Amino acid sequence: MKEKVLIFDTTLRDGEQSPGASLNLQEKVEIARQLEKLNVDIIEAGFPASSPLQFEAVRQVGDESGKIVAALSRAVENDIKSAHDALRNARYPRIHTFISTSDIHIMGKFGHERYGKTLAEKQKTILRMAVDAVVFARTFTGDVEFSAEDAGRTDPVYLAEIIEAVIDAGATTVNIPDTTGYTWPSEFGRKIANLKQRVANIDRAVISVHCHNDLGLAVANTLSSIENGARQAECSVNGIGERAGNASLEEIVMGLKVRSDLHNYYTDVSTEEIYNTSRMVSSFTGLIIQPNKAIVGDNAFAHESGIHQDGMLKNRQTYEVMTPESVGVPQTTIVLGRHSGKHGLQARLSSLGYKVTGAELEKVYERFLSIADKKKEIYDDDLRVLMGDELNKPLEPLELDYLHVNSGTASIPTATVRIKAKGTTYEESSTGDGPVDACFKAIERALSLGSLLYSYSVRSTTAGRQALGEATVRLKDGEHLFTGRGVSTDIIEASAKAYLQALSIRQDAQGNDNTTTIDKGI
Ligand code: KIV
Ligand code: ZN
Repeated sequence: MKEKVLIFDTTLRDGEQSPGASLNLQEKVEIARQLEKLNVDIIEAGFPASSPLQFEAVRQVGDESGKIVAALSRAVENDIKSAHDALRNARYPRIHTFISTSDIHIMGKFGHERYGKTLAEKQKTILRMAVDAVVFARTFTGDVEFSAEDAGRTDPVYLAEIIEAVIDAGATTVNIPDTTGYTWPSEFGRKIANLKQRVANIDRAVISVHCHNDLGLAVANTLSSIENGARQAECSVNGIGERAGNASLEEIVMGLKVRSDLHNYYTDVSTEEIYNTSRMVSSFTGLIIQPNKAIVGDNAFAHESGIHQDGMLKNRQTYEVMTPESVGVPQTTIVLGRHSGKHGLQARLSSLGYKVTGAELEKVYERFLSIADKKKEIYDDDLRVLMGDELNKPLEPLELDYLHVNSGTASIPTATVRIKAKGTTYEESSTGDGPVDACFKAIERALSLGSLLYSYSVRSTTAGRQALGEATVRLKDGEHLFTGRGVSTDIIEASAKAYLQALSIRQDAQGNDNTTTIDKGI
């Protein structure tokens, strides 16, 4: 008999904790819609108590989704209440509460004497807090997940004790995170087998795992745990997440599918939606996918050497263990051009996972036409970048009204910018180490700002001389990172727009908490 593995997607929660990967509300809602098309089982939409934006994102995703929507909370009443409030109208709400269980986390995060003097006393306090949290969460919903943070490094006897206690308290899913990505596949598999053996009531809950990728073993650890009894895999699209990220959804799903000859597990993921989802997440987060990334990288189905190409022409299976079609990699690339109509654009966007109607469609079509004027052929990736740019509009944008750049091998790069903001115009010029530097300095002068630049990158969205350039700028202000993106066939203009967008988002965030830093501590 085949056994189902539930796919718990944490792109919008842990994934968004990737440094610099902040998503705005609309982008989160769009991604959640796409995750629904991908047919994951559970969407973790955020951590409502951590900021008003997170709360609102969970609320909106919960309100519209037909999937189980999970909200994270620490094992404290206020967080749990906030998770419940955000999920109030969700069809299938899940409260996901967590607390640290490893010695190193306990001693570090619960060092205060009020949690106990010795490690043993602190462990007792934590067990009680975990049980109280689950009991409290159960007063709001029948679907409660408990996570033992840093379970990968937690003493197995204590882990079994706390898992048994939370199941008795009403947890319906028990999650065993390898928070620091420290474990080894066979070791992690044994951890799960050990829980199955030691925890008397384990059959009353689904065992889940949540593996981080610090040693590049997150997917291997997840698959090993499934072989040993885990039936929920927590993962993210493109493997994004804290530090080196989470286990990648596409690798787990395709690993299970392609090697179904070895085991009896399956998922309900619509694998043909993997590519669209991956591209959407990359374009909204600004986190570029490495070309050799398994399943979704640009080179995943590219065959370079003559011997490989020859083999492929004779029989694709010579060098491919799955087809590009099975993960939705498109086989035709040219889509639209200057003469394409609004409905053609709408239909194409819809097939890429973007639902655009009414006034929004008018705006997008206008932008599309202005790009089509400069660029003959518009590719899917151009449309994705365009949509990312549209949805990432700040509340009060600093607009680039005019840009003039002088640059060359025999002249000092100089830029002049004119910026419009709230009805006021600012204009300045500057020289710089190159045209982009001159442009950024002119912006800083115009707005009387010091440099907050943390990172800058530019890439072309598609091949060819007319490709759109997408610039990504990250600013660092204290603990907070702000990401801006700009798109144009001219990369200096794209860079200036990206810089202004990041500054606008920073400005918005001074009114709203719209930043990427989340304090998971208790
Ligand atoms: O990595 C981790 O331990 C987590 C938990 C909150 C599930 O993200
Ligand atoms: Zn995590």
